[in-house]
Amino acid sequence: MPSYVRAGSLPHKRHIQFRRPDGGLYAEELFSTKGFESAYSLLYHLRPPTATLDIRPWERPFVRLVENDPLRNRHFKTGALPRSGLDAIESRLPLLGNDDIAISVAQADRPMEYFYRNTGGDELLFVHRGAGVLETQFGELAYRAHDYLIVPTGTTYRLVPSAPTRLLVHESRGEVKIPRRYRNEFGQLEEQAPYYERDFRVPVLKTPVESQGRYEVRVTNAGRHAVYVVQNHPCDVVGWDGYCYPYAFNLEEFAPITGKLHQPPPAHATFEAPGAAFCAFVPRMFDYHPLAIPVPYNHSSVDCDEVIYYVSGNFMSRRGVEEGSITLHAAGAPHGPQPGAVEASLGKTSTDEIAVMVDTFKPLMLGEWALESEDPEYYRSWLETPATT
Ligand SMILES: [Fe+2]
Repeated sequence: MPSYVRAGSLPHKRHIQFRRPDGGLYAEELFSTKGFESAYSLLYHLRPPTATLDIRPWERPFVRLVENDPLRNRHFKTGALPRSGLDAIESRLPLLGNDDIAISVAQADRPMEYFYRNTGGDELLFVHRGAGVLETQFGELAYRAHDYLIVPTGTTYRLVPSAPTRLLVHESRGEVKIPRRYRNEFGQLEEQAPYYERDFRVPVLKTPVESQGRYEVRVTNAGRHAVYVVQNHPCDVVGWDGYCYPYAFNLEEFAPITGKLHQPPPAHATFEAPGAAFCAFVPRMFDYHPLAIPVPYNHSSVDCDEVIYYVSGNFMSRRGVEEGSITLHAAGAPHGPQPGAVEASLGKTSTDEIAVMVDTFKPLMLGEWALESEDPEYYRSWLETPATT
């Protein structure tokens, strides 16, 4: 949550009588995190959000993950998905995961015909391609390519694409937030942060939906699932305020920090979550030392797994990757530019690449479809000449 936001009609104090034009009371809802002790919002519904007609099981396919064994660097070619015609939730293909985060790709070809609520942690949705609207109880958040959509745990939403939408989905087990070092003592974004409060887009509250009926809300929480059938439309809110709400940030607004010499990934940090750090590599000028090497040096991040999702542009330092590729550089496994990439980069002054990254501090396990889409030769791609065995 970047800062305090208020929208729509609110009573002048919280927790007091607030009446509809027909004399009835609006239903106040506290939307709070970490019990009552962290960020929260107050929402005012036409009718109580508690009116539940039915609860039944939601039979979701079991997600089987296996160890990265033998432990090695991997490349998954996820550009072409095996399924189409699905919505943003049904199409999720789990690729990687651990106790802190689950990473999937998804292709929303049609609107969700139900609402969805993840109460097990925040979701961070990266829009690779497409456009549409995320409908939530806080209002409508229009999205476009290269948006990050930050969705707080407990948000009830429905993704309605206006164009087929490819997503990289991060389901955190905690809060996705702006790095602490980007904020001053008042919480305001610092002058040296690569983005500013006005770069974040918040939902636009629409006319509340008055109708009653049977509305399906599919709820998930850390492997437990249920379908709620509720009587009142989730988007019946007349006003809300607070620090907890979904918001969008487009990579176009990211002002990358560049330098005289190569800047490591933390210079490109966007968000962080428990056990995970997110970065974005966007079009930028390269380092300006006369002898600078634009591509990264060989490195071993000895205690984290590095995941890069390749969005667009010329991925100069990585042989064989394409749009939609995902590389997993496992903890302690050396990696860097492939042979010839350093020499080829010398003298280059800028890059048009777009890629997003997540580092995890616990080992990532692999989903079935990750293994099916794997380029099994990737770990040999640093050899000077193609290997024969
Ligand atoms: Fe790396």
